[in-house]
Amino acid sequence: MSNDGVNAGRRRFLVAATSVVGAAGAVGAAVPFVGSWFPSAKAKAAGAPVKVNVSKIEPGQQMVAEWRGQPVFILRRTEEILSNLATLEPQLADIESQASDQPGYVDPKTRSIKPELLLLVGLCTHLGCAPSFRPEVAPADLGSEWVGGYFCPCHGSRYDLAGRVYKAQPAPLNLPVPPHTYESDDVIIIGVDQEQA
Ligand code: FES
Repeated sequence: MSNDGVNAGRRRFLVAATSVVGAAGAVGAAVPFVGSWFPSAKAKAAGAPVKVNVSKIEPGQQMVAEWRGQPVFILRRTEEILSNLATLEPQLADIESQASDQPGYVDPKTRSIKPELLLLVGLCTHLGCAPSFRPEVAPADLGSEWVGGYFCPCHGSRYDLAGRVYKAQPAPLNLPVPPHTYESDDVIIIGVDQEQA
């Protein structure tokens, strides 16, 4: 529908709503209805899918996109990072994300469509802080066992580089994997589900 059509329809609705509600003596009540039936362009944009070109992300690095007002981490994992994932399993709370939020079309353990590219909603599942990306091995503040992961600075929750939370952390669940699909090798659309064969 064109904008003209929308505006004409909206004007007709406003006239009808004003005369009906005006007769009942409660004009103010009509405004929220008009607002919710015709969401603003800004509201539509806030919920819209987001296209991201991932070609510039180097192995071992991540970029942060924004989708629905939330940060989305996009990490290009190395072979070493991927091979570490299996060794961490005994320390993790929800290895295959059975209780956590992830689409059915990602691999249950790597939590991705392509092993090397991981997408996560970057909000801690405890109280919603932004976890820090800490890919380094055995940094002084995180200890000699640390092989890289996400660390939440608010209350110390630890996640691996698949966004899976360690056992006995304040955070109860893994970081969510958002719906996403590949438009091409280098372009991912966040907010659209991958078609399943
Ligand atoms: S908000 Fe992350 S540990 Fe509390």
